[in-house]
Amino acid sequence: EKGAYRHFMEKEIHEQPDSVQHTLSHYLDLVTGRAKVQTLEAGAIDFARIDRIQIVACGTAFYAGQIGRYAFERIAGLPCDVEIASEFRYRSPAVTPGTLAVAVSQSGETADTLASLTWCKGQGLKTAAVVNVHSSSMAREADVLWPTHAGPEIGVASTKAFTAQVAALLALAVAAGVARGRIDGQSEGELVKALFEAPRLIAEALQMDADIRAVAHDLSKATDVLFLGRGAMFPLAMEGALKLKEISYIHAEGYAAGELKHGPIALIDEETPTIALAPLDDVFEKTASNLQEVAARGGPVIMIAPRTAPDPHGAGIRRIHAPDCHPLIAPLVYAVPVQLLAYYTAVQKGTDVDQPRNLAKSVTVE
Ligand code: F6R
Repeated sequence: EKGAYRHFMEKEIHEQPDSVQHTLSHYLDLVTGRAKVQTLEAGAIDFARIDRIQIVACGTAFYAGQIGRYAFERIAGLPCDVEIASEFRYRSPAVTPGTLAVAVSQSGETADTLASLTWCKGQGLKTAAVVNVHSSSMAREADVLWPTHAGPEIGVASTKAFTAQVAALLALAVAAGVARGRIDGQSEGELVKALFEAPRLIAEALQMDADIRAVAHDLSKATDVLFLGRGAMFPLAMEGALKLKEISYIHAEGYAAGELKHGPIALIDEETPTIALAPLDDVFEKTASNLQEVAARGGPVIMIAPRTAPDPHGAGIRRIHAPDCHPLIAPLVYAVPVQLLAYYTAVQKGTDVDQPRNLAKSVTVE
């Protein structure tokens, strides 16, 4: 039931401190500050013995997979490819024997993702499934079930299932880093601690509500919106654009901030808002300079960044303050303003938030 909330989506956005906490606890031990590598190995995946990860997924789960990729490569030095399942299954991909195939899916029933998983199994690859419905086809099909603990998700637009997927993948990347000897006990402890700070910082991000509502008021009048980010904020920008399209029916695109000058900057005018996801990480300055370029062309810019981040020069950059956080968990923390922005814009427009037109919760036919 929705309780005090107007929509399931709103309720599910607010459940994220808990759903992320539950999911992390499956993979990481809060008390010892260690990844539960042995539990994972008992599931027959030894990260030290694989040499590549191939993630397959659709829609929001695909963006979660892309965020996971940054972590697997950076933390575990494990090459990782991520592909949309409907492409992967039909293009005869060249897979190598040491590859672990990972399906990411809320429902565990998405036809293209399931077919890709089955195909990988047929190629003799080890397979794992990051799924929220633990009795689903993918959970049964894969060699190993890597559960998310988001609880049932009712809203068609995925929110808490997405952050649970991201949390699971980030935790698995830490476990992989340990298993492969890429991080020492101290780094492991730091990363585990950072991950367990996510639930509290997600709760803090939920306090951005009033600021987001004000921006959503303006966004509801736009016909096109750009989302920009670098690093793990790039797939989150695409997720933000997808969420806005799905429930408010406003056209939106997510771009890598550095790609702007290779084409999309031509779209910028006074009517086209740009939402920038700019945590204080090692590419903040790069993103800030891209925002100056947008502002200089008269485009309204809303920069979501911590209070401690410097102001980019140039007029017209409106700021919304996000909580300060470790770069590893920025995709979890920044997912909140992104989801709230889509939610309040849709509410402002009066669309059917929980049941957007033309969409189904689970796509079991291709
Ligand atoms: C977007 C959304 C979809 C799903 C996609 C995959 O809000 O919900 O893009 O993410 O259809 O579904 P699952 O995760 O069930 O495989």
